[in-house]
Amino acid sequence: MNCRSITLLFAAIVSIITVTDLAARNVKIDTGNSSIILDAEKGKKLRHLYYGSKISQADAANIPQALGKGNVAYPDYGMITLSETAIAMTQPDGNMTLDLVVDNVSTRKDNGSDITSFILKDTYYPIVVNVNYRTWPEENVMETWVEITNNGKKNVTLTKFASGHLPIRGGDVWLTHFYGNAKNEARMESSPLEHGLKVIKNRSGVRNSRYTHSEVLLSMDGKPAEDVGRVIGAALEYNGNYLVKIDTDQSNNHYFFSGINEENSQYKLAPGETFATPPLALAWSSNGTGEISRSFHKWARKYKLANGDRERKILLNSWEGVYFKVNEKEMANMMKSISDMGGELFVMDDGWFGVKHPRNNGSAGLGDWTVDTRKLPNGIDGLIKEAKKNGISFGIWIEPEMTNTKSELYEKHPEYVIKAPNREPITGRGKTQLVLDLANPKVQDIVYNVVDTLLTKYPEIDYIKWDANMDILNHGSQYLTNDNQSHLYIEYEKGLRKVLDRIRSKYPDVTIQACSAGGGRVNYGFLPWFDEYWVSDNTDALQRIYLQWGISQFFPAIGMASHISASPNHQTHRIIPIKYRTDVAMSGRLGMEIQPDNMTAREKEQTKKAIAEYKTIRPIVQFGDLYRLLSPYDDKGVASLMYVNDNKDKAVFYWWKLRTFANDLLPLVPMDGLDPEKIYTIRELNRIDRKPLPFEGKSFSGRFLMENGLEIPYNHDLPKEEQTDWSSRVLYLETTP
Ligand code: GLA
Repeated sequence: MNCRSITLLFAAIVSIITVTDLAARNVKIDTGNSSIILDAEKGKKLRHLYYGSKISQADAANIPQALGKGNVAYPDYGMITLSETAIAMTQPDGNMTLDLVVDNVSTRKDNGSDITSFILKDTYYPIVVNVNYRTWPEENVMETWVEITNNGKKNVTLTKFASGHLPIRGGDVWLTHFYGNAKNEARMESSPLEHGLKVIKNRSGVRNSRYTHSEVLLSMDGKPAEDVGRVIGAALEYNGNYLVKIDTDQSNNHYFFSGINEENSQYKLAPGETFATPPLALAWSSNGTGEISRSFHKWARKYKLANGDRERKILLNSWEGVYFKVNEKEMANMMKSISDMGGELFVMDDGWFGVKHPRNNGSAGLGDWTVDTRKLPNGIDGLIKEAKKNGISFGIWIEPEMTNTKSELYEKHPEYVIKAPNREPITGRGKTQLVLDLANPKVQDIVYNVVDTLLTKYPEIDYIKWDANMDILNHGSQYLTNDNQSHLYIEYEKGLRKVLDRIRSKYPDVTIQACSAGGGRVNYGFLPWFDEYWVSDNTDALQRIYLQWGISQFFPAIGMASHISASPNHQTHRIIPIKYRTDVAMSGRLGMEIQPDNMTAREKEQTKKAIAEYKTIRPIVQFGDLYRLLSPYDDKGVASLMYVNDNKDKAVFYWWKLRTFANDLLPLVPMDGLDPEKIYTIRELNRIDRKPLPFEGKSFSGRFLMENGLEIPYNHDLPKEEQTDWSSRVLYLETTP
């Protein structure tokens, strides 16, 4: 086949629904800014030829000549056993090999997206594997996943089933990933890939972003930078255990795999059954990591995050204000305070339920979702009335996947918890907490009913904080058969999704926060059912800059719950003035998590002003493009970022000093994302200084601001007795019409 006919074939693939004539064929799949090219010759291995910036048909035609014949796109185990593989299974006759070759390629439309499926068949056994790619014409993100079908008459056992694989040419390739712990989630770490296997994995079963994240950045041009270099962003969209691997072998090339963690999760695929892996989302940037983030954020708001097109309310959550000491007077008090400060929603956190086993601490009551009328004599109705009186909405905390041994649910149904046969259960929080077995359809109904009952009884509930404070510590389902115990993690995740689907189809408009002992559930897998994510139980403003920096790499600000809390902070005991705490919280979905009674009148006044100003910038923060300007990880004494709206006529710039040393010259921070030709007028928000900033009310071109930035004073201009070592600024930029 000559070049011309290859080009014609490329053109044809876009419009062809099912392709039958496959001699030698390269298939190019485009996103808004990238192309992936696979060689799908019938009867041969599917080969990955290219993933990079979007290329023309003409360049694509000569890809094999330019870059070589590529690597197997979805490597199978058995016939060549040396390298890492994406899929492996054991046939009913004990044969452990697979030999998948291309049978067909098809394309179809689905809800504004295009799906290209490469249908691979084993050369001997009745196994079909569809390798799928979904793209949206306007988006830079694509998804890949596989569907594995057993067309035989007996079970086969899947032992490896990655969602996707990408070969990456050796060079100066760096990996950025996220690690952490409770109250210190999403720490970023970047390093060059070295020989050997790098593995990022999760085994929690419930909360999969507490210690590690399934999202990674692969920077092809050395140390990652915000605005230069070729980068791949990859995020596995899954609510369960994952395994992300990069094998750097003797060839110096890299092989990236991402999918469900198959460890202890071998899956018996029944005759006629199809196993679909979770999607792996991929984005390409030729302009650094910033573009990866913006591509993911935009795509998330449009296609993934629940209600991604709706502004989020400003709320007060009761947790750090009263912890378990919920009572009517206190709740009413808090509602009045947040309403007075201009907030729009009050969320009653843990501690409101349990009759026989009252929830006074973390050791009792989960599962018994009946209001404790000793604390709340007028029940939830009374609270909703109070919220209405204050002109705000009402929200509530639940943890429906869990129970305590001290609960009526557990007393009646010990068979509903996850636990191995012949073993005592291992408990979690409060030494009594256990995970309910969502593999069991009866348990799925129970969890669904927790939410359904609340929302049917109290249709005014506007917001749910859905918590999950325990990992699966016991490998054992009392529901699954003995020979299917290895399905536990997979069935738990499936069960959870079924419950969430039922809830969302009945209650699409309720705002639901994914919380999991802090930031344990920040993963694209959760996004379709959740409006937002609790980043961390650490609300310290300084550490939040780092925490939110990490989360912002893949997740948009609209869902990033970010609360003003007490000083000294309850987690770090750091003393930080309200101005700084507010300026950090205002860079995400603003909320409060504090006892307002403990705030001074002045602090309340400042917060009220900040809430009013946040309302002005809310559309820019929540729907705009993020430009990270100076990373706290760079240790330059300051961190800075900005959001710019779609028209580039409004922007908001954040600047937080990270340390104080006398005569320390901080870097000037050039802005980004503005229109160089537009003229922007600067106005400081949350101002506390006696004198306005020298550039207050002044106008500058986008070009000037992006080449230079503005000189930010080291300290605030305050009377001596009010001076602290903290300094931060929020600047609002608006074009002059
Ligand atoms: C978890 C959450 C907190 C709070 C408590 C309540 O730790 O992360 O925000 O809701 O549970 O018990």
